[in-house]
Amino acid sequence: MLVDQLKIVQADAFTYYLKAHFYHWNIEGSNFPQYHDFLNNLYNDIFLSVDTFAELIRALNSYAPGTLSRFKSLTNIEESDSIPDAMTMMKNLYEQNNTMLVSLLKAYKIADEEDEIGCANFLQERIQQHEKHGWMLRSIIK
Ligand SMILES: [Fe+2]
Repeated sequence: MLVDQLKIVQADAFTYYLKAHFYHWNIEGSNFPQYHDFLNNLYNDIFLSVDTFAELIRALNSYAPGTLSRFKSLTNIEESDSIPDAMTMMKNLYEQNNTMLVSLLKAYKIADEEDEIGCANFLQERIQQHEKHGWMLRSIIK
C-alpha cells in the first residue's frame, strides 16, 4: 500500500536528516567551513520533506509516525554513533542517499499506479532533489 511505503520514506528521511545534522555538528578538517555549510543545506532540505511526507500520510487517512523507536523500526537508513573522518562522512551520506532514492522510487511507482498524482509529483520532486544531493556528494568524495 502507498501509505505503508510513505511511512518508510518518512522514517528514512528523518533518519537521513538526523545523520546529516549529526555530521554537521561533528565534522572536522581543513575544509570545515564549506563542509559545515554544505551539511547545513543538506539537512535543511531533507528536514522540510519530513513534514510533507507526514501530511501526505494524513491525507491518505492514516496516522504519521513520530517517535524515534518507530522511525528506527521503519527505516532502511543505518544509524551509527561513530564520528568518522570527513571523507567517510561524505561517503556514508552518498551511499545512504542512494538508499533514500530506492525508497522514494518505490513509493513513486506505487503512487503512479494508484493515480495519486499529488503524491507522485512530490515524490518526483524529492527524487530530483536527492539526485542533486548525490551529484554533490559524489563530487566531494571523488
Ligand atoms: Fe549549525
